[in-house]
Amino acid sequence: MAEQRARRRPSEQSGAEVSEAQIAVHWQEEAYFAPAKEFIAQANLTDKGVFKRFSLDKFPGYFKEFAELLDWYKKWDKIFDGTNPPFWRWFVGGRINACYNCVDRHLARHKNKTALHFVPEPEHEAIQHLTYQELYVRVNEFAALLRDFCGLKAGDRVTLHMPMVAELPITMLACARLGVIHSQVFSGFSGKACADRASDSESRVMITMDAYYRGGKLLDHKEKADIAVTEAAKDNHKVDKVLVWQRYPGKYSSPTKLVEGRDFVVNDLLPKYRGKRIEPVRMPAEAPLFLMYTSGTTGRPKGAQHSIGGYLAYVTWTSKYIQDIHPEDVYWCMADIGWITGHSYIVYGPLALAASSVVFEGVPTHPDAGRPWRIAEELDVNIFHTSPTAIRALRKEGPEEPAKYHYRFKHMTTVGEPIEPEVWKWYHKMVGKKQAVIVDTWWQTETGGFLCSTVPGIHKMKPGSAGPAIPGIHPVIYDEEGSELKAGSGKAGNICIRNPWPGIMQTIWKDPDRFVHQYYSRYCRNRKSKDWRDWPYMAGDGAVQAKDGYYRILGRIDDVINVAGHRLGTKEIESAALLVPEVVEAAVVPVADPIKGKVPDLYVALKPGLDASEEIAKKVSASVVSQIGAIARPRQVIIVPDMPKTRSGKIMRRVLAAISNRQDPGDVSTLANPEIVDKIRTAHG
Ligand code: WTA
Repeated sequence: MAEQRARRRPSEQSGAEVSEAQIAVHWQEEAYFAPAKEFIAQANLTDKGVFKRFSLDKFPGYFKEFAELLDWYKKWDKIFDGTNPPFWRWFVGGRINACYNCVDRHLARHKNKTALHFVPEPEHEAIQHLTYQELYVRVNEFAALLRDFCGLKAGDRVTLHMPMVAELPITMLACARLGVIHSQVFSGFSGKACADRASDSESRVMITMDAYYRGGKLLDHKEKADIAVTEAAKDNHKVDKVLVWQRYPGKYSSPTKLVEGRDFVVNDLLPKYRGKRIEPVRMPAEAPLFLMYTSGTTGRPKGAQHSIGGYLAYVTWTSKYIQDIHPEDVYWCMADIGWITGHSYIVYGPLALAASSVVFEGVPTHPDAGRPWRIAEELDVNIFHTSPTAIRALRKEGPEEPAKYHYRFKHMTTVGEPIEPEVWKWYHKMVGKKQAVIVDTWWQTETGGFLCSTVPGIHKMKPGSAGPAIPGIHPVIYDEEGSELKAGSGKAGNICIRNPWPGIMQTIWKDPDRFVHQYYSRYCRNRKSKDWRDWPYMAGDGAVQAKDGYYRILGRIDDVINVAGHRLGTKEIESAALLVPEVVEAAVVPVADPIKGKVPDLYVALKPGLDASEEIAKKVSASVVSQIGAIARPRQVIIVPDMPKTRSGKIMRRVLAAISNRQDPGDVSTLANPEIVDKIRTAHG
């Protein structure tokens, strides 16, 4: 029986025996912190009745309130269509344009207000403030270029590989204006990673920038575009045009040459489109707005497809009520637009509400840990949003820094990983100066926007807990057997959401089967059912719910490692290691890290007869960086004589994870090769 149960573990089904949830830290229950009175007095949402109005029996009607925050060319006929589970359709029959909602509609009242503050990394470079009017002009001109020079039209896909500059939201909004589907790839990803995404989405056009600043260096970024185009060609995918923005308009800042007939400098082409205005395309609400590739259980990243109407309604509502954004706020989310957080909560949500949103190019701790607080002071930022990894780094390098600067946050967010209560308390006391409310928001690339968080004007905060579900979201925790854990049981299980919501991705690009399989198959009660109640969404995270209804997220239950808040697939890393000819087996495990939360340790076994060497370890590490990007670089590459294996030959990652985390690997006597454990421990050191 015990063996049978063990076999049914999701982590085993997908090949890895250790999950983040299994090595999660065990925190105590924490005392509550109350939101400041001044905050509550101005908050967008203080009415506790919202939870009644948004109760499960009122689904889906309450989501109308989300859509009503937007301007529609044509109102929807139906809020929700669930006739083809789990391919939900939202605001069916509605016509809308995302760019119009983020730009044009604000011109009447806010044209002279800053839409984007671009903060270059070098401090001697002035901050650039783009008003809504300027944003309107630049988006229109670039949209004209995309349409008339590139021939792009609604439904086409475009791959963006852009750094954190104002041109990135400009590019996204120009695409949205035309109904073109953008797929922005995090700029830290390698050319190869960009190629995989361009080829999967069949993007004929790639948009990049010549160079950008990171950690004090002007990095050559254009070289990655060359690699991306070459690698995509190996996959039989041709990229026709590469558009290159200049980091310094008028000056080409990359040592990598332009390829004649393929590469075009945007800043050279733009004058031709001066003064051009493009009517926003009136798109069906359910047309895709963008793809966001994310790591999952199989080797290739998958393209989460987000809709225009449902997604925009969801991020706008959550920005207004969970981020508490008012049009007069200066809002700074320090995430990268290359991740979902940046899409939802730097670009689409805040701009739909006419806020001023900050785009920061650089590293938060460069040149020192006072940088973010200088920016906050200069721009008078009052809403701040970042990840536990950034908070831990700022706390380590400059624990007293925030006190030196005169800024005042009313609201702060943490997102992307569990935050240790100690770190939360520093964030609250030092960064928030005991006045800011904090929301710990749990959600995912797939979910479009927040799922669990306190409502800042209503709930008390509890360090280390994401809080209850947001209004309209109804979670449930299942055990391994598929039974519901009692609400507030304090027991760990797999968190799912009972009901569909407008921000959920529509499907995985070109892979509907994988969409159904990965998120719905495990807990679906009846595959033939047409009732959404039978199709809970499985998030892939372990979680517990305390008596007070607050959820604590434990981490991934599948083969995904959350490094510094970024999702990496273990399979992606292992495949990269196996490209090194000397390597025959590879296994990656998450290791707890005081700053990044988790980092990957990579174990490899070599072909018979080969000796371990520093050189091979370096090659393995380099392969991971070139296949995925520097964020996936293993903490160490450990060359072992053999992997710990079950009698059926499966690698026991649980044992490797225990060694890396200096924990007890438990009973290893059932392994096919128990003697290997000590040898691996020696190799690990
Ligand atoms: C984790 C990022 C604990 C979780 C928005 C999830 C969190 C994965 C939190 C999604 C949080 C996100 N507390 N863990 N507040 N927020 N996670 O797709 O494991 O990059 O499944 O989306 O990050 O990562 P993704």
